[in-house]
Amino acid sequence: MILSSALIVIGATIPDHINQNDTQQSATRGKKIYEEYCLSCHQADGSGVPRLNPPLKKTSYVLGPQDKLIKILLNGLEEEIEINGEYYSNPMPAFGSVLNDQQIADVLTYVRSNFGNKASAVPVSKVKEVRAAK
Ligand code: HEC
Repeated sequence: MILSSALIVIGATIPDHINQNDTQQSATRGKKIYEEYCLSCHQADGSGVPRLNPPLKKTSYVLGPQDKLIKILLNGLEEEIEINGEYYSNPMPAFGSVLNDQQIADVLTYVRSNFGNKASAVPVSKVKEVRAAK
């Protein structure tokens, strides 16, 4: 936790106009968060565990609308979902009180730009918006 806060402070010193750089910094912080909070279930390469934990590779959730994806992280998910012909129904824990807005933006930016995914970065403003609307 102390480590991630320190990284956020470093990130905040990068000028806003260097967008590409911002995205890279966010994904780098997100990788650490992923390793701490997500890897045990979704695995280092995002391939998940068949029938237990779904993959994060090019799924409609990962690549789809950002607000839906953010909500899964904030509130968790507990419904039967189907990904590539496999069904998953174990609960996904809620991270709304574990991770702050910046950490959620960072980990989702990491996931959306790794494991073969090429989707846009998730801005912290979007996480704030979704959290406020909930
Ligand atoms: C305890 C195991 C566990 C942990 C830890 C966990 N997840 Fe999940 N995740 C699941 C399960 C199980 C589901 C499916 C939930 C369902 O079927 O309702 C899921 C679903 C998802 C989905 C939507 C389905 C998909 O595969 O696209 C996303 C996105 C996701 N998790 C991201 C994350 C991220 C990012 C983290 C870390 C912050 C994380 N998860 C941590 C178990 C976990």
